[in-house]
Amino acid sequence: MKFGYFDDQNREYVITRPDTPLPWINYLGCQEYFGIISNTAGGYSFYRDARLRRLTRYRYNNAPWDCGGRYIYLRDDESGSFWSPSWQPTRHAAEDYSCRHGMGYTTIGSKFAGIEAYTRYFVPLDENLEIWQLTVSNRRATPARISVFASVEFCLWDAQDDATNFQRNYNIGEVEVNEGVLYHKTEYRERRNHFAFFACSEPTAGFDTARDAFLGPYRGWDNPAAVASGQLSNSIAHGWAPIGAHQVNLVLAAGETRQIIFVLGYQENPVDRKFDPPDSQTINKKTAEPVIAKYLGAKEADAAFGRLHEHWDKLLGIFQVDTPDLHTNRMVNIWNAYQCMATFNMSRSASSFESGIGRGLGFRDSNQDLLGFVHMVPARARERILDLASTQLDTGGAYHQYQPLTKRGNNDIGSGFNDDPHWLILGVAAYLKETGDWSILNELVPYDNKPGTEEPLYAHMGRSFGYTLERLGPHGLPLIGRADWNDCLNLNCFSDTPGNSFQTTTNRDGMVAESVFIAGLFVRASRELAAIACHQGHPDDAKRFLAAAEKMEQTVKEHGWDGEWFLRAYDSFGEKIGSKERDEGKIFIESNGFCVLAGIGLDDGRAAKALASVRERLATKHGLVVHQPAYTRYYLHLGEISSYPPGYKENAGVFCHVNPWVMIAETRLGHGDEAHDYYLRINPSAREEISEVHRCEPYVYAQMIAGKDAPTFGEAKNSWLTGTAAWNYYAITQWILGVRPTYGGLEIAPVIPAGWQGFTATRIFRGVKYKIAIERAGPGNNVALTVNGSPIEGNIVRPPTDGSNEISISAVLS
Ligand code: GLC
Ligand code: GLC
Repeated sequence: MKFGYFDDQNREYVITRPDTPLPWINYLGCQEYFGIISNTAGGYSFYRDARLRRLTRYRYNNAPWDCGGRYIYLRDDESGSFWSPSWQPTRHAAEDYSCRHGMGYTTIGSKFAGIEAYTRYFVPLDENLEIWQLTVSNRRATPARISVFASVEFCLWDAQDDATNFQRNYNIGEVEVNEGVLYHKTEYRERRNHFAFFACSEPTAGFDTARDAFLGPYRGWDNPAAVASGQLSNSIAHGWAPIGAHQVNLVLAAGETRQIIFVLGYQENPVDRKFDPPDSQTINKKTAEPVIAKYLGAKEADAAFGRLHEHWDKLLGIFQVDTPDLHTNRMVNIWNAYQCMATFNMSRSASSFESGIGRGLGFRDSNQDLLGFVHMVPARARERILDLASTQLDTGGAYHQYQPLTKRGNNDIGSGFNDDPHWLILGVAAYLKETGDWSILNELVPYDNKPGTEEPLYAHMGRSFGYTLERLGPHGLPLIGRADWNDCLNLNCFSDTPGNSFQTTTNRDGMVAESVFIAGLFVRASRELAAIACHQGHPDDAKRFLAAAEKMEQTVKEHGWDGEWFLRAYDSFGEKIGSKERDEGKIFIESNGFCVLAGIGLDDGRAAKALASVRERLATKHGLVVHQPAYTRYYLHLGEISSYPPGYKENAGVFCHVNPWVMIAETRLGHGDEAHDYYLRINPSAREEISEVHRCEPYVYAQMIAGKDAPTFGEAKNSWLTGTAAWNYYAITQWILGVRPTYGGLEIAPVIPAGWQGFTATRIFRGVKYKIAIERAGPGNNVALTVNGSPIEGNIVRPPTDGSNEISISAVLS
């Protein structure tokens, strides 16, 4: 069952009924000002940090879902009835409801009692504000008197404090109202130098800033007393809950259409010019007024929308494909790339499942995210890499997370996740391959942000490498620490105390439990690093990296192989995990996917065997599960993985993030059919038809789909902010379609389904446009390349030396 459809032409997903199984969201903003917006106008806005600079309030885990938003109400002043064109919060049965989620904007509306109203929400580029463009049309044969109300509920900036510290917060709320603009200035009197504003393009017939006045006693956003009465009361909030609400009275002739613009924004003032006059407590509004005036004009708003559109045209234009498969095209050309940008912007902080107060930017996650967005915003990828590396510790280890606002490592969670350091190497490698900007390696970067500790980025990567070699266990495999990629395989935790964090509780010395997954990652990362060292003219380093990788590969073959597949780990008693010797957790996806992806066992049949075992034991119609059999009870020595009921999350759920590792592994064996088959099983667009089962948005990946052991097999959770976005993008574009940046040029190495006759693509790579046509002449993956009409050796196309900026490539597969 579907709740909408893809409008590929306009790059939109169109939701045609409001009661989706879960709120289906989109993101507004792509620089510093952001918002989440659901298909019924729920969500919230923030400046840079969803915890520390939250503008509007949102109630997670509320009933109904998705409470708090950018709510507009219309009131028919003849009949006194009122409704929300976005369905929420009044939930009237309107006609022609639609929500169009597009690239950085969302338009929601419907028709009720002959009045049509649609609102387009977006954040203009380079501005810290959002525009709501409301278009109201009278489709009646008679004139209509309609009052329009637009409302937001202000959050008192720190979202954590906002949700907990009521004894203080009910006293501090403050607002100002000036020339029809509502200003939220809680805590501005003391240490904040930022405020929020909410403005309207039309002369208003009233406002409210006190929630109680607007809603009335014991009433909710679904039935505000002031809207029911048809008149806002110009209330001024003193403490309690400041809101912003505007009222505009319209008289619409039959057939008449009017547009009203609302602007909600964030403004910072210089500390010494906070007040105007200087010795007053009144906000200096001079900084905000021009920008407010600018975007209240329809022309400027439309122009800003046009620029946003062009921005996305440009980003998405960097890679476009035309394959025989609609779901591949749609995800690669539009939604997967778009989701990669969202994960870049948000990391794992703010979504329907991430509260914006829980997590900062993950070291591991952010490095992997690079794989999906580096081609679109290389300059910002560069900055991100340097920020990440600055939080690395001098041991080579890393803070597991850092706060985006301060860019400092997060002490609460600390370090000791022994896979973390290697993702930096893979992130930097992806950046170098895409850009050829080797200068980044010479950037001086501190450890733990401590001045005086700076070393070139290249040295940081050397420390990542050394970190593992200094932490090998009894079998010569890497010690796992608190966890590796699987945050929930906590082999040194041994927590029997409710509420202990599985990630930070450590009750063992950590000198026994080893990870075969980290071994695979180490092999992969060290070979990348060797290639980088060679290029940098450090052959001795390269030798060292390669020798260590080689040795690790042998160790994996010796101690990390279970006969039919790769082991997952050794626990802190030295017992195997992910082995036929176990009753539960016999085989895991991570080590099998990553070891093969890293090339281990390609030469001796182990890789093929491992992937056959994965297919036999882990593949389901909804994707590949993490392990089998699921853990049926809590095991002290395994940690959080066994805390989840069978089939959910890391306990044998379909963790979509790791599925692409197997897709890539399949391509390394030349199995295009298998790789693409796995790709389609979790492709959101390919799952659109089963939206009632999948439940999350059909246009973006979710972190997890319940596995076959779960009663809700096939149900997705935790959509949007997941490493799934980057890895799937990377797998389909670089390994299945095989258009792959390398240090020396663009490699063309498709491993596509046997049934595909070919495909075409355009790729902008280091400023040059490559027009690629792939044609199948035989069933295999051998590539014969012609560049600008002349055959070339091998399958790497070097950047042109003659200054041309367009290249035609045709490749024949046989
Ligand atoms: C979450 C985390 C990620 C981790 C994964 C598996 O997606 O963000 O860092 O690797 O779970 O536990
Ligand atoms: C939980 C989740 C895991 C996530 C971790 C982040 O353990 O199961 O997916 O990575 O939280 O802290």
